[in-house]
Amino acid sequence: MAKSKTFICSACGATSTKWSGRCEACGEWNTIHEETPLSAGPASKSLGAKRGSSIPLTSLATEETPPPRTHSGIEELDRVLGGGLVPASAILVGGDPGIGKSTLLLQAAARFAESGLKTLYISGEEASAQVRMRAQRLGLAQAPVQLGAETNLRDILTTLEAERPQLAIIDSIQTMWADNVDSAPGSVSQVRAAAHELTAFAKRRGTSVILVGHVTKEGQIAGPRVVEHMVDTVLYFEGERGHQFRILRAVKNRFGPADEIGVFEMTGSGLSEVINPSALFLSERGEPSPGSVVFAGIEGTRPVLVEVQALVAPSPHSQPRRTVVGWDGGRLAMILAVLEARCGIPFAGLDVYLNVAGGLKISEPAADLAVAAALLSAREDAALPAETVVFGEISLSGALRPAPQTENRLKEAQKLGFTAAIAPAGGKSVTDGGLSLTRATDLTGFVGEVFGAG
Ligand SMILES: Nc1ncnc2c1ncn2[C@@H]1O[C@H](COP(=O)(O)OP(=O)(O)OP(=O)(O)O)[C@@H](O)[C@H]1O
Ligand SMILES: [Mg+2]
Ligand SMILES: [Zn+2]
Repeated sequence: MAKSKTFICSACGATSTKWSGRCEACGEWNTIHEETPLSAGPASKSLGAKRGSSIPLTSLATEETPPPRTHSGIEELDRVLGGGLVPASAILVGGDPGIGKSTLLLQAAARFAESGLKTLYISGEEASAQVRMRAQRLGLAQAPVQLGAETNLRDILTTLEAERPQLAIIDSIQTMWADNVDSAPGSVSQVRAAAHELTAFAKRRGTSVILVGHVTKEGQIAGPRVVEHMVDTVLYFEGERGHQFRILRAVKNRFGPADEIGVFEMTGSGLSEVINPSALFLSERGEPSPGSVVFAGIEGTRPVLVEVQALVAPSPHSQPRRTVVGWDGGRLAMILAVLEARCGIPFAGLDVYLNVAGGLKISEPAADLAVAAALLSAREDAALPAETVVFGEISLSGALRPAPQTENRLKEAQKLGFTAAIAPAGGKSVTDGGLSLTRATDLTGFVGEVFGAG
C-alpha cells in the first residue's frame, strides 16, 4: 500500500494531507512542506487492546511549599519569569535572528551561575571559541558557566544526565538533531522531538531548561511556535532594527503573569537593563507636533508611557493606504470607522500611517483613545496641548470605557513631568496625582473638548 503523504506547516505545526501555498491554520505563506510526522510509527494497534496499570490519584490539598525561585539579579529578566527562575521549568526564548538572544542568555547564564546554580550553556550554532569571545566582550569570562558546543541530542542528554546541572541553556532548538527521528535538523519533527526530550529531562531531573528558538521566515525551518505548547514559559525577545531597545515579553507563563515585559538596551558591552522605560520611549520626542500623542499604557504590572504618531495625507490611490507599526491594523480600521460613523469625521481618500515610537508593540484596548487623538491631531494639523497623556478604550457606539489601573497611569505621567491627562469618565473615582484631568464620556465629547469641534 502506498504511504499517504503528510504535509506540515513549519510556522504552527498544523498538518494536512495536501500541499498548499498558504497555511489554513495560521495564514502564513510558503510554510507548508512534506515531512514525516513524529507519530509515523505503528499506530494501528488500539491502545485499549492491552491493559495498562492504574495510576495513583491524589487530592488537590498540598503540604508542599512553592518551589524556591532563583533570582538572576537581572531584574528585567526575573520579573518576566514571574519572579525568578523556577526549578524544573522549561522556558522557550524566541526571537528574530540577530536580535540578541545569545547575548541575553549568556548574560543570564553568568548571573544564575554566580547566584549558585550549576549552569551549562550548550551552543549548537557557534563554536566554543565564538561563545568565549562573546563572554570576553561582555566581561563574563570569569563566570562559572560550563560551555559545550554540540548538536547531537543524544550526546547532550547523556552529558546532562552525567552533569545534572540546575540550569541548561540550549542555543538553539533548531540546530538540535535527534538520531531517532528521520528528518532534517530544523524540521518540525526534529524540533518537536528535541524540545520533548529536553523538557522531559527538565521534569525528570529538576533541571531548568531554556531553549532558544529562532523566528524564521524560511518554510523549511520550524519556528518556535511549534513547541510553545510543550514548555512552561514562552518569552519573546523583540526589537526594531535601528533601535537599541529590546523587549522581553512573556506570552505564556505557567509560573507567573503573562504580558509582563522587561526592557533592555543593546550596548557594545551587552544588554543593559532599562529601569525606566517610559523615559527611554519618550526620549526621542521633540516639541509637541500634530499627530503626536503620548499614551499612558500598562505593560504587565508596569505603567509605560509611549508616543503614538499618526500621519494623514491625501491619497493618490483609489484604495487609500492604512499602515500600522506597533499596533493592530484591524483595531485601526475600527477606530477610523467609529470616527466616521459617530463623529462624522471621514478618512476616505486619505492615507493613514500609524506608528508606535521606540519599537514597542502595544495591544491594550486602552490605546484606542490615544490613537484616535493622534489621527485627529494629524488630520486637523493641530497639536494636542503640551505635556498631556491620553488613554481609554473606545467602543463601537463611540462611548469611552475607563481603562484599568487609571491611577498607576496618572502617577507615571506625573513622575515624568506631564501636567494633564485625558481619560474616559466613569469607573472608580481616582486621585489625579496633581494632574489636570479631563474626563470624557464619549468620543464626540472628546473631540469637542480637545479640538473644539464635534
Ligand atoms: N561588538 C559589538 N558591539 C556592539 N554590539 C554588538 C557587537 N557584537 C554584536 N553586537 C550586537 O549583538 C547582536 C547579536 O547578538 P546575538 O548574537 O546575541 O543575537 P542572536 O539573537 O543570538 O543572533 P543569532 O540569530 O545569530 O543567534 C548584533 O545584532 C549586535 O546588535
Ligand atoms: Mg545566537
Ligand atoms: Zn501554519
